[in-house]
Amino acid sequence: MFDSADLRRLLENVVGSDNVTDTDSSDDADWTGRFVGEPTLLVRPGSTVEVAEVVAVARRSGVSLVPRGGNTGLVGGSISRGRSILVSTSRLRNTGTIDPLTRQVTVGAGVTLHDIQEQAQSFGLRYPVDFGARGTATIGGTVATNAGGVNVVRYGMTRRQIVGIEAVLGSGETVSHLGGLVKDNTGYDLAGLLCGSEGTLGIVTAVRVQLVPLMPHVVTALVSCDDVATAVDVVASVCSRLDTVDAAELVTADGLALVREQIGLEIAMPNRRIHLLIECSSASEQVDVLSDILDEHQGIDVAVAVTPSQRERLWRIREEQTPSINRLGVPFKFDVTVPLPSLAPFVERIPLAVEKVRPGARTFVFGHAADGNMHVNVVGGDGDEVALTEQVLGEVVACGGSISAEHGIGTAKQPWLHMVRSTSEIDAMRSIKAALDPDGIMNPGVLLP
Ligand code: FAD
Ligand code: MLT
Ligand code: ZN
Repeated sequence: MFDSADLRRLLENVVGSDNVTDTDSSDDADWTGRFVGEPTLLVRPGSTVEVAEVVAVARRSGVSLVPRGGNTGLVGGSISRGRSILVSTSRLRNTGTIDPLTRQVTVGAGVTLHDIQEQAQSFGLRYPVDFGARGTATIGGTVATNAGGVNVVRYGMTRRQIVGIEAVLGSGETVSHLGGLVKDNTGYDLAGLLCGSEGTLGIVTAVRVQLVPLMPHVVTALVSCDDVATAVDVVASVCSRLDTVDAAELVTADGLALVREQIGLEIAMPNRRIHLLIECSSASEQVDVLSDILDEHQGIDVAVAVTPSQRERLWRIREEQTPSINRLGVPFKFDVTVPLPSLAPFVERIPLAVEKVRPGARTFVFGHAADGNMHVNVVGGDGDEVALTEQVLGEVVACGGSISAEHGIGTAKQPWLHMVRSTSEIDAMRSIKAALDPDGIMNPGVLLP
């Protein structure tokens, strides 16, 4: 901890003494426990104006800023490092009213996914970015990481939901463009640029998002089979025939066994290697349509759930993957995208590839099958961490994939950014950062080498 007496006083003058605290152990580590920061100050500004004043204090004091939403990020991006302080958005929680004509709403960066989803639902609408950390992950954090989740196949990543943004840049300038006009071709897309910038360009303080209709008829099919190629074929055939597919999630028998081991399972599952959850939502009933498509496939077992409780029991299997793995031990997490034609051989071969460099490890593969986004989580075993990362990411890049599908680069993948972005691309990103964060105070060490 650097000498912070003066800094604390300056920050307290901005946000009040109650909103400047020393971090404690719960602040200093990321959700997985793999990334641990140094003790520092945590400041909670209550408005965009206060955020701008905090940035100004940081610039004058020569300290860096690490924006912090729900701290559910999985690549070490929201952890303090060096001469940095944490800037929490937990007080930026004002929520606007939903505009019935545009179906849009503006919310503070610290509002959680769950809160936005609830507000939308009360209006018969839906905020479609969804994943297991919804209760803690904030809209600001999901914008900063351009979060994906289970509904990308139908609604896209977070970037596609944003129609307006307000942020304080590292320069101390505030940009605010929250009108929500869908057709507004008036220069560079600052919202699109800040989305996915992982706190390295500025602090998002408010976001205007587009909501979608909440569909009354939801059906979830559990499709079980013995190889990934069959699963990929099933997903491709359903997605080519229905435009109502919200999710297509894959778990393996190992992941299922781990959930059963840790929390038990409330439903009987076929004894097969691969399980898919395919969920569709629509204005009219679709159970038969989906069942008919699945009936065309050989070698699969199908169970269809329509009641909320049946569907919830199926989804628990998928949503318990991450927490169950973390209870086993601090995982090495690889969040990769593999082109669909290469997905089956990749998923089949990656556990063996890991075993070669990390003997004795347990490898769990699960994820968003329709997007080719697999989560390869490695727990335990011995061997060099760099060799493990190079092995897994090497396999991904060899088939034209991405080293980060939805979690971002953070500090975790930063040394491997060059595997998927050219020197000129990285130089262009550096130029943008130099323009918007001239003193380099925004989240140094994250994203850009
Ligand atoms: P934090 O973890 O606090 O921060 C994440 C990054 O964003 C950091 O670099 C931080 O500096 C920056 N940041 C945070 N707030 C702001 C802001 N207001 N302005 C600028 N920068 C900011 N992610 C997915 O994409 N898809 C999934 O399916 C998914 N599932 C998950 C399941 C579980 C159980 C868990 C624990 C995590 C999961 N995640 C998933 C990862 C994580 O939830 C997302 O990355 C999420 O976007 C992080 O939001 P947060 O508010 O927790 O941000
Ligand atoms: C998920 O889809 O569950 C996540 O992205 C989390 C993970 O990789 O563990
Ligand atoms: Zn995911």
